Amino acid sequence: MKVLVVGSGGREHALCLAASRSPLCSELFCAPGNAGIADLAKCVAIKAEDIEGLVAFVQRKAIDFVVVGPEASLVLGLVDRLEAIGVPAFGPSQAAAELEGSKGFMKDICKKYSIPTAAYERFTDLEKARAYLQKQGAPIVVKTDGLAAGKGVTVAMTLDEALNAVEDALSGRAFGDAGTEVVIEEFMEGEEASFFILSDGENILPLVTAQDHKRAYDNDEGPNTGGMGCYSPAPVMTDALIETTLERIVKPTIEGMKAEGKPYRGVLYAGLMLTSEGPKLVEYNVRFGDPECQALCLRAKSDLLAVLHASAKGDLSRSSMEWLDDSALLVVMAAKGYPGSYEKNTVIRGLDKAAGCEGVTVFHAGTAANEQGEVLATGGRVLGITALGADIKTAQDRAYAAVDRLDWPEGFCRRDIGWREIARQEER
Ligand code: AMP
Ligand code: GLY
Repeated sequence: MKVLVVGSGGREHALCLAASRSPLCSELFCAPGNAGIADLAKCVAIKAEDIEGLVAFVQRKAIDFVVVGPEASLVLGLVDRLEAIGVPAFGPSQAAAELEGSKGFMKDICKKYSIPTAAYERFTDLEKARAYLQKQGAPIVVKTDGLAAGKGVTVAMTLDEALNAVEDALSGRAFGDAGTEVVIEEFMEGEEASFFILSDGENILPLVTAQDHKRAYDNDEGPNTGGMGCYSPAPVMTDALIETTLERIVKPTIEGMKAEGKPYRGVLYAGLMLTSEGPKLVEYNVRFGDPECQALCLRAKSDLLAVLHASAKGDLSRSSMEWLDDSALLVVMAAKGYPGSYEKNTVIRGLDKAAGCEGVTVFHAGTAANEQGEVLATGGRVLGITALGADIKTAQDRAYAAVDRLDWPEGFCRRDIGWREIARQEER
């Protein structure tokens, strides 16, 4: 099979690694890719949002299977366009991608199919939203309906914060069209965890659990980010909690989407809050998590590309996946200043030394090579230093040993990835 992976982050680097290891893959392309991906795949300079350009490339090269990484391409309907020309693609249709593309749509599905999630209301009118906030009080959560690059959520501890968030969004000032509708929802308390499953529209193949670290700095301080590090599995997701999540959250969603005429194919990433009343859905993402995908790929014992293909072809019923018992832990190296503004095109050295550490794989997220063959940092999140270990502490030690081999003064990372789970295990 000629395979095209769409995207340019660490997630896509991991998907390319999985594809390159699969006996099903004869030739691998990535659009647009990055400096690390270029070691595994032929990178083509077409952006993930350039749907016309991607479709034309797939036709020109007679690509057999497309794996779509980022939500933006899915929400723009890339999978539908490829299906129309007879090319299977991994990921949901545009209609099914609304589970991530519209918070309001996702919440309405939860309400209709009795899926546990925070109580909510949808608003387009500022005065009505204000009145609702006054009535509910703080803490409360305000979300823009549309995709806002991970910045559309305000967890407001005071009423003023919530009122400001609603005004910013509904005035169109802060998020443009993505913010002209808001969801206001109940604040949930608990620990967060993620659960990934594949579906082909009907069948469900559970994958793995993970936990992310969203804040930029140690001790979960500083601004929210796309994720500064993660580990998999997440032991807090016990077998019993996984079972409850499948029965009460995942299955009714897959059945509901089918009943709505929008069968869900692809990976469904459930962001969960483990509340005293049981697991509740915080959000759905319609793609693999980044950086969670990198940890997941390292733990895969069987052929991941084969199950992604089965999902796309509507043929998951006979598929299974085996996983290493090992923990995988990933530390994100980001450019100093991220998630705010940061310097670009600084040189990263020591990559080979880091990659040579025991159990370690270095995934590239925002990198490019210059003419001298040096690797330059081109994004906010730049590298994902990922280690496998018999337990999470071993994986953590290995990942930070590799981080310490890097020579990149313009970069930074959190030093405490995995802290919550490691503390729990030390207590026992
Ligand atoms: P989301 O983009 O919906 O995942 O929200 C981003 C983050 O905001 C989540 O990872 C949670 O930490 C937090 N969050 C979202 N919704 C709620 C809620 N209803 N209660 C408490 N925290 C929330
Ligand atoms: N790491 C969180 C996400 O991919 O949304």
